[in-house]
Amino acid sequence: MLLLKLSSLLPFLQTPSSSSAAEQKVLKDGKASPLNSKFERLVYENLDLWKVPGVAVGVVDGDSQWSQGYGIATYPDTKVTPSTLYYTGSTTKAFTAAAMSLLVDDNANYSNVQWETPIIKLIPEDFMLSDEWATNHMTIEDALSHRSGLPRHDYSYGGNYEGKTPSLQAAVRAIRYLPLTAQPRTKFQYCNIMYGVASHIIQTLTGKWLGDVLRERIWEPLGMKATFFSSDDAAKAPEHLAQGYVYYKEKFQPVREMDLTCVSGAGSVVSNVYDYSKWLKSLLSTSGPISKAGHKALRTPRIFEDGGDLPTPFTGPQAYAFGWSTGVYQGYEFFEHSGGMIAFGTDLIFFPALNYGLVAFANTAVTSNFLEQALLWHLVDERLNIPEEKRFDWNKKNKERLQKANDKYENTWKEVYPNIPNPPLPTSIPLQNYTGTYFHPAYNNITLEIKNSVLYANRSDATLKLEFNLEHVSGDYFMAYADSTEAPGTAFKVAAPAEFKVGPEGISKKFGLAAEPAMGPNGRIWFERV
Ligand SMILES: *[C@@H]1O[C@H](CO)[C@@H](O)[C@H](O)[C@H]1NC(C)=O
Ligand SMILES: *[C@@H]1O[C@H](CO)[C@@H](O)[C@H](O)[C@H]1NC(C)=O
Ligand SMILES: *[C@@H]1O[C@H](CO)[C@@H](O)[C@H](O)[C@H]1NC(C)=O
Ligand SMILES: *[C@@H]1O[C@H](CO)[C@@H](O)[C@H](O)[C@H]1NC(C)=O
Repeated sequence: MLLLKLSSLLPFLQTPSSSSAAEQKVLKDGKASPLNSKFERLVYENLDLWKVPGVAVGVVDGDSQWSQGYGIATYPDTKVTPSTLYYTGSTTKAFTAAAMSLLVDDNANYSNVQWETPIIKLIPEDFMLSDEWATNHMTIEDALSHRSGLPRHDYSYGGNYEGKTPSLQAAVRAIRYLPLTAQPRTKFQYCNIMYGVASHIIQTLTGKWLGDVLRERIWEPLGMKATFFSSDDAAKAPEHLAQGYVYYKEKFQPVREMDLTCVSGAGSVVSNVYDYSKWLKSLLSTSGPISKAGHKALRTPRIFEDGGDLPTPFTGPQAYAFGWSTGVYQGYEFFEHSGGMIAFGTDLIFFPALNYGLVAFANTAVTSNFLEQALLWHLVDERLNIPEEKRFDWNKKNKERLQKANDKYENTWKEVYPNIPNPPLPTSIPLQNYTGTYFHPAYNNITLEIKNSVLYANRSDATLKLEFNLEHVSGDYFMAYADSTEAPGTAFKVAAPAEFKVGPEGISKKFGLAAEPAMGPNGRIWFERV
């Protein structure tokens, strides 16, 4: 089963919509718009290839800037414009780090906040990791650079358990129950919850919601009036908020956006390319409201990233700073961050030495990011006059990525269970005896029931909502085949081994699920029957 029917996605040239004359005009300083008709053709080819309804693109080049919308923001016919609002996902992290820099700078009010301050000194009531040394030594710097030792555990947080609304504090407090998968400071492991910790620190110390801190201290000074930190505020804005979609069963289906409470400073921003161009300008000019020292801190590499198995066009490895990944392209240092929500994808890139920055927002998960890589790196190549034959083929790489993800989904069971008896052992108890509710103090409840003759769970009580079937392998061993309940079909499908521990009464007592990929296929999050 292919994630996307790649062979059937023959690029199809759509008649380009006419761009506004002003944006195509050669500007006074002689720079022609990079968002020209050649680019427009590339946009429509890629919207079709990656099955994305629309995209907004912004370019800042010295004193010049251009922005343009392409395609659909909301079906049936609301078109994308540069004003269209999008969820900007993890590009939020740079704002959270910037807000932290303001506290670090402010030695009058927050002398206790430095980059190397142990987190436990700031939120002693709430912060604890599963390891004592890590608890006492984890710093703000570690949290913001994804080198804490804690992996994502993205399926743990959120939820409306027992009628309670989700809370960031509860998610932060639950970290103590989440296994670490590396020694602190030894490994880059992207971790959204650690940005939740950073948010909780800022909110606790300032006594304000992070959205207010960002608005008052960063967005208002930069004139970013169309930038928000909650779905409700974005919905009230005069600008149109794009609808997120999933391309599923051969059509675009609207997706309900996820609850942002626990996402917080990891990915709650809603904005448009006009406002993000203002942000890019402040990053390029290293001007206020962030201090020079703050800009420097945000750009300082802290740990090398694992570039993965597929090729990249970059020189040497990439490293993570604070809310930015940094590397070298064609001899130029660049900073980049993507953003991904359940039905949105963002990319943001800037080259300080070129005084050049780019932003793109689009309204699907993952495939939007692929589209944006093809478009934004094309613009960079045009800007640097890279000959066509020397350009990196982002679409080829991303098709390979999808293919690899799909192969992994299909083949994990064979890798995890290479030697099962033939025929496999039957389950030790009837399926009915595995059903019931199991609890983990951070991942909360999983309720297993029998649906269509297999064990089934519906994790609607979490920020990332998913459902899974347990397919029997042998004895008390299973494979969980999970998918998002909100945006099914491509981006969020996972195959993970699972097993039960059966008690002497013939009832399962524990359910173990390989819920965190960084723990490896034999790692288990153990849920106990309640
Ligand atoms: C910092 O402290 C000064 C002096 O006490 C005060 O005027 C100012 O409002 C404080 N700023 C913040 C952001 O708390
Ligand atoms: C988990 O489910 C059990 C049984 O329904 C319930 O008593 C408990 O309160 C639930 N826990 C949470 C955190 O929702
Ligand atoms: C999963 O649970 C949610 C919330 O309880 C419910 O709306 C949804 O219909 C359930 N899905 C299935 C397939 O049972
Ligand atoms: C299944 O559970 C019931 C109790 O609900 C128990 O009486 C029965 O023995 C169990 N079946 C087996 C095969 O252990």
